[in-house]
Amino acid sequence: MPNAFIIFGASGDLTTRKLVPALYQLHRKKRLPAGTQIVGFSRTRFSHEQWRAHLGESTSRFIGQYFQQSSWDEFAKSLYYQPGDVSQAADLESLAGLLDQMKAGAGGVRVYYLATAPQFYETVVTRLGGCRRLADESQGICRLVIEKPFGSDLKTARELNEIVHRVFNEHQVYRIDHYLGKETVQNILVFRFANSIFEPLWNRNYIDHVQITAAEEVTVGRRAGYYETAGALRDMFQNHLLQLLTFTAMEVPARFDADLVRNEKVKVLQSIRPFSPEDVAEATVRGQYAGYRNEEGVAADSQTATFAAAKLHVDNWRWQGVPFYLRSGKAMSCRTTQIVIQFRQPPHVLFPDLARHKNEANRLVIHIQPAEGMQLHFLTKVPDAGMKMRLTDLEFRFDTEFPEAMPDAYERLLLDVLAGDASLFARSDEVELAWGIVDPIRMSWERTGLPDLAIYEPEAWGPIECQKWLWEDHREWLDVCPVLK
Ligand code: BG6
Repeated sequence: MPNAFIIFGASGDLTTRKLVPALYQLHRKKRLPAGTQIVGFSRTRFSHEQWRAHLGESTSRFIGQYFQQSSWDEFAKSLYYQPGDVSQAADLESLAGLLDQMKAGAGGVRVYYLATAPQFYETVVTRLGGCRRLADESQGICRLVIEKPFGSDLKTARELNEIVHRVFNEHQVYRIDHYLGKETVQNILVFRFANSIFEPLWNRNYIDHVQITAAEEVTVGRRAGYYETAGALRDMFQNHLLQLLTFTAMEVPARFDADLVRNEKVKVLQSIRPFSPEDVAEATVRGQYAGYRNEEGVAADSQTATFAAAKLHVDNWRWQGVPFYLRSGKAMSCRTTQIVIQFRQPPHVLFPDLARHKNEANRLVIHIQPAEGMQLHFLTKVPDAGMKMRLTDLEFRFDTEFPEAMPDAYERLLLDVLAGDASLFARSDEVELAWGIVDPIRMSWERTGLPDLAIYEPEAWGPIECQKWLWEDHREWLDVCPVLK
């Protein structure tokens, strides 16, 4: 059955950098169902041939050694382009005409992919609803993929959900969080639920706290237009960090089924203790890297947080009393996303040296990226030194175990959309709950100005205030750039 991807925002960065390279890689690996057609729609006036040439050049640049001219030439035959403006009903009619002529998705799946700037989501969805030939399922199944950000707060996310649901049923809607397409993120579920020795320890009886860090070396660069209104909370917390938290904290679903998996994630989000304004001053840190205000497009007195940290409590039987510390920032020491499961100290100090290793109880470090793997830290006796101890580790690396290059997150997600598997996509209630967690923090920051915005030097681990904040809890961040041996 032929399938079709119709990409709105086809001349944009996401299409060029991610979507088309991922579709091409799937084609190269022979995973893209035969006959799949890709139709780009945006205002730039490309012909089919010009779009193909433009994408050929960019795709070869982005995927480097995996680009093969002959397989690209074959793939490029499935690329089509329709110039148009989503605000013009007539342009959508022209698109519908092209799709009818191509029999795009007839008898298969027609995927509408919103890769436009978010302010156009509503228009595109409404236009799709307004053009019967587009959203009508009599010819084949229709699905809608929406990129982040899904709304900018709870109110706008609810409104967007309502607009989307006027045209599409929830089971047709795929809200992307590309973190869920990462192999190392999916591996959290496999690690927890396909092995029997970790899950019995995965609770308040053995775990002291959890740290989730998404540090980036890059600065905001030329994205200030977006970032000034987003900041770290909207950009990284509401989506990626909370997704990592749900995978870490969720209960095992009865089956690996989209709704059962998402029900469990929703329960975690529902269990997160809401913040009062007083809590926010104590339980969060906000920072801005020195020099941010000199970036192009940034206000001279900008209060935007380029770094945020928050202590969350998951109020349920498994996690009561186990804080989850989340942090994310730009312009930090190195790029690393990692989850640290810090286990408790043994209940009884048998060896005197143990006292010196107070913050070195067992910990499991789940390296999401760029190192991909895991480390289990444990104390070992130093030979020939009495009962002196040292922290050592067991290590697993994806790249030594599986030498094939890791696929890009979008490859898996795009295939899942075609297959109708929404397990790795956010459901409407999930997105709204996540905003409901992040909104009070942001509103309290804006209203009270507390905690103070801490300025930090680039290439550090965020503001020193964040280190001190954890010391006050008698805990310490694991600040290491992840060099798996
Ligand atoms: C995006 C954010 O969602 O994720 C960016 O908008 C951020 O600001 C990016 O840089 C990080 O993604 P990754 O996959 O590089 O960790």
